Formats: sequence, structure tokens, C-alpha cells
Amino acid sequence: MGVFPENFLWGGATAANQCEGAFDADGKGPSVADVMTCGGLSRFKVTVPGIPPEYEHYFAKMRYVTYRKGEETGACIAMKKSTYPNGGQPDFLEGEYYPGKRAIDFYHHYKEDIRLFAEMGFKCYRMSIAWTRIFPTGEETRPNEAGLAFYDSVFDECLRHGIQPVVTLSHYEMPLNLCRKWNGWADRRTIDCFERYAKTVFERYSRKVKYWLTFNEVNSIVHGGYMNAGVFSKRDEDLETAAYHQMLAAARVVRYAHSHYPQFQVGCMISYDPPYPYSAKPEDNLEALLSFDSKTHYYGDVMVRGFLPEYKRKDLARKGITLPIRPGDEEMLAQGGADFIAISYYQTSVAAAHSDNLDKTAGNLGQHIANPYLEKSEWGWMIDPVGLRYALNLLYDRYHKPIFIVENGLGARDVLEPDGTIHDDYRIDYLRRHIRELGKAISEDGVQVMGYTPWSCIDIISCSTGQISKRYGFIYVDVDDAGEGSLKRYPKDSFYWYQKVIRSNGEDLN
Ligand code: BG6
Repeated sequence: MGVFPENFLWGGATAANQCEGAFDADGKGPSVADVMTCGGLSRFKVTVPGIPPEYEHYFAKMRYVTYRKGEETGACIAMKKSTYPNGGQPDFLEGEYYPGKRAIDFYHHYKEDIRLFAEMGFKCYRMSIAWTRIFPTGEETRPNEAGLAFYDSVFDECLRHGIQPVVTLSHYEMPLNLCRKWNGWADRRTIDCFERYAKTVFERYSRKVKYWLTFNEVNSIVHGGYMNAGVFSKRDEDLETAAYHQMLAAARVVRYAHSHYPQFQVGCMISYDPPYPYSAKPEDNLEALLSFDSKTHYYGDVMVRGFLPEYKRKDLARKGITLPIRPGDEEMLAQGGADFIAISYYQTSVAAAHSDNLDKTAGNLGQHIANPYLEKSEWGWMIDPVGLRYALNLLYDRYHKPIFIVENGLGARDVLEPDGTIHDDYRIDYLRRHIRELGKAISEDGVQVMGYTPWSCIDIISCSTGQISKRYGFIYVDVDDAGEGSLKRYPKDSFYWYQKVIRSNGEDLN
């Protein structure tokens, strides 16, 4: 027997708001992602207080949300709550470029794209449904049939090619209306809207989709809750409340799915970037443990183990934050544990009790302590294949649930050669090294991993910068950061390499 189980789910991943485009087609409503700009192309310039000059170029590429505040217009960094205005409403502004409006126009190219995924041999395709295609404002009681019909066709196309859809219910988007009206997930009424949406798509696609994920990277909300949770305020209490509401909503839909659709498997999804202690100093080790628990394990503990851990209760109490827990919530959390844990893994991090004078690098959430033993991508993300094995062990030891790696990949600039080829050996090298470590976690450490869907299987818009030039795909899409290009698709060298990997069930990585 080989390293990977026979039924291992090889595939690739995307998210609706980063690939579909057609932002107002067939009754779709505006989502929070639609009013986000492309890094560096906005007419506004947002500076982050306290950012050392050497990191300014990273922040200059970060994606903005444009807004109106009375007569005034402005922009803030989507993932940096410290830049959010006091008051104001996210909105489209004249003269701004919003790359999500067209993206790579998957909406009109899905047949061609899925055919290419099939050519690579995908067993599954992780994608998301745009909530606003189904319920344009989030408040309707009847769904938009045209939106439902679109995903019917997408799933049919996948299944026709033997590809299992793996569907995220909410991947960094929600109706803009709910954000503007009551601050998104900071308000409990959003849970009911989401539940209506989830039940609708569960029912409609129950014979087509077996694998579901509730929310993408719940643990990112506290850094800047606009994109993930429609929270357009910087108050920690709103952000913690929003995360709590999402986890409660996840429990509600998991429980509902279990009682109505026993064939479903519903996972939670967290971004997993474990910290290494900066040194052997006990204080650095303690910092690594405690900071990772509060930034990451808290979410897994609630969504998998089904309760609010003591360390989080203490932490919230210290900050003077009271979660709006109502009678019945704790039972709901206990009964709505996820069937598996999906993660995005891009990098590890470094924790130190005192980080002021340490060398730093950038990630999509801000600056981090640099690890001198690792290389970095052009966007400052550290590259750590061994860290993936470390992460999988940590996660499996803690929860003992199957793990699905639904994101992992390298954002890099690719060159389209005059003959239509793209030589992305750096991406092949990145993925090869990660798959090798993933194999060791399975065969040497006994970690149960269900599948691997690299991010992203086709070039799409970057979520943190809005650029398409930060490319991740196996398939190159001819469009630039300003949206110019033919949208023609070209397989990269990595396309043919990944095809071999899948065909050999992970044995042939050369
Ligand atoms: C993950 C998100 O955090 O990282 C994706 O779930 C995102 O939506 C991916 O695209 C890569 O980040 P970026 O900012 O390079 O697109």
C-alpha cells in the first residue's frame, strides 16, 4: 500500500468572491467583498500607525474597503481593524476599481475551468457559494432561483467529471446589507439569516454535495472583522461577539445537517499557523502555547470539542468583554461539533515573550517575527514544509478528528511565455515539499488526513491584496491587476506535474 489512502481527496480550492465575478448578475446582491479594492490601485492611501518604514511596501499592497461617512468618502485596510473609521458605511465609490466585480469570470467560464480540473484528475473541488446569489440582502424569506440554478449547474458539471464538490457556506463574504444594517455577525439576527441560507442550500443540493464547511477561517475575525464577518468597527467586543455568533451558527447548522442529512460531513475551518518559540526560554515557550490557544485553538475547541475553554473565559474577563451567551447556547455548542477539521496552512509563526527588537516579516494579517531558518515568498510569507507535518500532528493530537487541508500554496509572480507556457518550477518545488511532509504525517505519524486541495487551483484575486499578480494557480488566467486581459486560460508546468501526482496517488512527486 502507498502512503496516501486509496480514497484520498486530491483537488484544488477557490472562493466565490475571488473567482466568480458577475457581481450583480441574475439577481445577486452586493457582498462585503464586492466593495474591496486592489492593493496599490486605490486613489486613497491608508497608513497604519506604528508600521516601521521597511514594511510600508507590504502594507501599500493591502486591500482597502471604501466607505462613505456623511458627505465624506474614504478607505481603510480590510484586514486591519485599527484603520477602520469611527462610523461610516462601506460603499462603492466613483473612480475606484473593484477587482471582484469581474475577477476571472468563473461565472461564465466554469465549464471550461472544471474541465481543466478534471484533466488534472481532481477527485474533489473546494469552492464556496456566494450567499448573495441565494439571498441578495440576507433578509429575504424566499431564495433567488437564478442563484440556486447556477450552483446546480456547477455541481452537475463537477459530478459529470467525477469530482466531489466540497462547499464552504461562507468564505469571506456575506450580504453587504447585513453589514450596513446591523454590523454583520456582531448582531445575533445574522445567525437566523445564515441558518435560512444554509438550510436552503442543504436541501437543494443534498443529492449533489456531501462535504460542507461552515465558515472560512473563523479565527481571522479578531484581526479585522469586516471581510469575514461584516463587522465594520474596531471594538474588540464586537469582534469577539461576531466570532461567537459564527461558531454558534456553525453548531446550529451542523446539528441540523446531522438530523436531516446523515450522509453529510460538515467540517469547521480554521487558519492554522502554529508558532515555534523564539528560543528555549520558558517565557517564549509559554507565550507560544498561550498565544496559539487564544488565537487558534479557542475556535477549534468550541467548534470541535463543543465548549468555551477556560483560558478564553479568563482572557475575556480580563479584557472586560462579556459574550452574549443565552440559555441553550452551551447545549447547542455541545451538540453541534464538526465532523472533521479543515485547515488552511501557509506558514508557521514565531512567538516570543518580548518581540520589540526582533527581525520581522509580513503576512496577510500584519507583521510577524521572522524565522531565520526559513525562506520567504515575495510577499513575506515564510515557507515551511516541515511545519505542515508539525501542524498536522499538533492538531490531530488535540482533537483526534480527520483533517482536511483545504488551502496550501505559493503566491508568486508568473510569466506567460510567448508560446503560451508558464514555467512555475518554484510552485512545483513548494508543493512537492509540502506533499512530502504531508505523506510523512500520514505514514509515519498516523495522522488521519482526508484530502488536500491546494490554494488556488486556478489564478484568482488575492484576498489580502486584491491583486491577481499574486498567482497561486495551476492554471494561468490572462488578466492583470487592473482587470485588463483576455481571460484566456493556460495550463502551467505545475498543471502537468499535479496531474502526475494525482494519477500516482501521491507516489510520483518528481
Ligand atoms: C486564506 C484565505 O487565508 O489565504 C483565502 O482563505 C486567501 O481566501 C488565501 O486567498 C491566500 O491569501 P492571499 O491574501 O494571498 O490571497
